[in-house]
Amino acid sequence: MQQHLRSRNWFGRSGKDGFIYRAWMKNQGIPADMFEGKPVIGICNTWSELTPCNAHFRDLAEAVKKGVLEAGGFPVEFPVMSLGETLIKPTAMLYRNLVSMDVEESIRANPIDGVVLLCGCDKTTPSLVMGACSVNIPTLVISGGPMLKGHWKGKDIGTSDVWRFDVAHKLGQINSEEFIEAEACMARTQGHCAVMGTASTMAVMVEALGLSLPNNASIPAADARRKVLSQLSGRRIVEMVKEDLTLSKILTRKAFENAIMVNAAIGGSTNFVIHLLAIAGRIGIDLNIDDFDKYSQKIPLLANIQPSGENYMEDLYYAGGLPALINEMKSIIHHDVITVNGKSMGDNCKNAEVYNRSIIGTMQQPFKPESGIVVVKGNLAPNGAVIKPSAASPALLKHTGKAVVFENIEDYHTRIDDPDLEIDATSIMVLKNVGPKGYPGMAEVGNMALPKKLLEQGITDMVRISDGRMSGTGFGTVVLHVSPEAATGGTFALIQNGDIISLDAYKRTLHVEIAEEELAKRKADWKQNEKVHTRGYVHLYQTHVEQAHLGADIDFLKGGSGSEVARDSH
Ligand code: FES
Repeated sequence: MQQHLRSRNWFGRSGKDGFIYRAWMKNQGIPADMFEGKPVIGICNTWSELTPCNAHFRDLAEAVKKGVLEAGGFPVEFPVMSLGETLIKPTAMLYRNLVSMDVEESIRANPIDGVVLLCGCDKTTPSLVMGACSVNIPTLVISGGPMLKGHWKGKDIGTSDVWRFDVAHKLGQINSEEFIEAEACMARTQGHCAVMGTASTMAVMVEALGLSLPNNASIPAADARRKVLSQLSGRRIVEMVKEDLTLSKILTRKAFENAIMVNAAIGGSTNFVIHLLAIAGRIGIDLNIDDFDKYSQKIPLLANIQPSGENYMEDLYYAGGLPALINEMKSIIHHDVITVNGKSMGDNCKNAEVYNRSIIGTMQQPFKPESGIVVVKGNLAPNGAVIKPSAASPALLKHTGKAVVFENIEDYHTRIDDPDLEIDATSIMVLKNVGPKGYPGMAEVGNMALPKKLLEQGITDMVRISDGRMSGTGFGTVVLHVSPEAATGGTFALIQNGDIISLDAYKRTLHVEIAEEELAKRKADWKQNEKVHTRGYVHLYQTHVEQAHLGADIDFLKGGSGSEVARDSH
């Protein structure tokens, strides 16, 4: 076994180099026998007090270490940049690719034979998985788990209520004291957002891809079984190293198809599209935006979880968890794909039972017939845009209206509540320059709040279109990820107030009526008004980030460089 361990290139050395590699580890109180051919397991930790969703990860890391030691491995914990969705400005997505570089280089550069990724808040999952894919050693993911649901004034609440509270506060239905009181009532335990937002969607994604032990997605962060899962994961990664069960053996094309189908059944976040495309790009699987529509079709909503349904992630766990939901999909899912525990997806799920039919439906009796991701294309978005029908108003999925255009997010904030703004419930709100290059970083502002004057009329949804993203906890008839984005000067950049836009999600179309000559004139007059950064990471990002339909990765980060170290002397 020893010759297969890459860590032996450090700790198995004789002479000065071996002395240095071991001696400076021994200053941490590590006995000599820990260096004797044991698999070295890296624990890649995104713990940070600035990432509140991951603030309990030191405890999880200790549980992983116990498991690694029990199985005869040597655990080493290391930090990487952590992305907390709530605090990082201008948007955590700007740094997803930066973190993936941190993770990739940290794994490759160090004596690590296998790695456990501790992921939680939204971007901490794709960034870590992307980086690990570019190295491709045995890898296992543990998610931090969802918060327990909140309670306020006798009602269960979660992150999707933030948008509702905001509207109620604007309309004077709740006062400022009540608004602040609700904060602590909602986020009352450790863990990530309790609904099927992006973090939960990412936790489901890694389980559906086969990258985590069963039930990783839904065990609450505060539940003792989250620590048990972590300890068992620690044991298992040591075995994975011995089996040389690398990421590329798990992340096959079929595994990606499974993930798309499961995402449809859970009503997962639209951010899933952009992250899964980026992960596929790193591991070398040919996946494109149309696959999301293709493999989502005919899959109904099976999980009755907010924002597409009514309940919370902990309810999913009590109802049987993701294995039980996947078992309901047994007629369509790929059973034979291998997962991190060495068993197939089919074997992992075949005995999982549903305990509560109000939380997990059947293919014959789902909660909604339409789910998944719909990809619309047309002259407004030649490379595609996405919409999540389960979170939209069915009546608006086919709609024609006049554009009310905001050139950027500041323009939106300045004018949205202007009483003189010409807008009504049939208008289509258009927000430009919030895409990957334009913002830069593709902000989560696509579900623009409606104008106060329309909220006061009782309007709750309108068609909204942007080149940005939407929080996975958000909802509404929101068309996102328009590609090419406005900052590249495509048709989307040229839309003006009053243009007639037609959305038909059933026919997968998105068109704007502008005569060819008029379009050519606007194109000739178009100028890039958004800031172009000339230094630092943001310059690198803005220069090299790809469009949303490709996953918004940095162009030169696609693919991988393996686990070989370029130069091998100290
Ligand atoms: Fe971290 Fe929602 S803010 S998961």
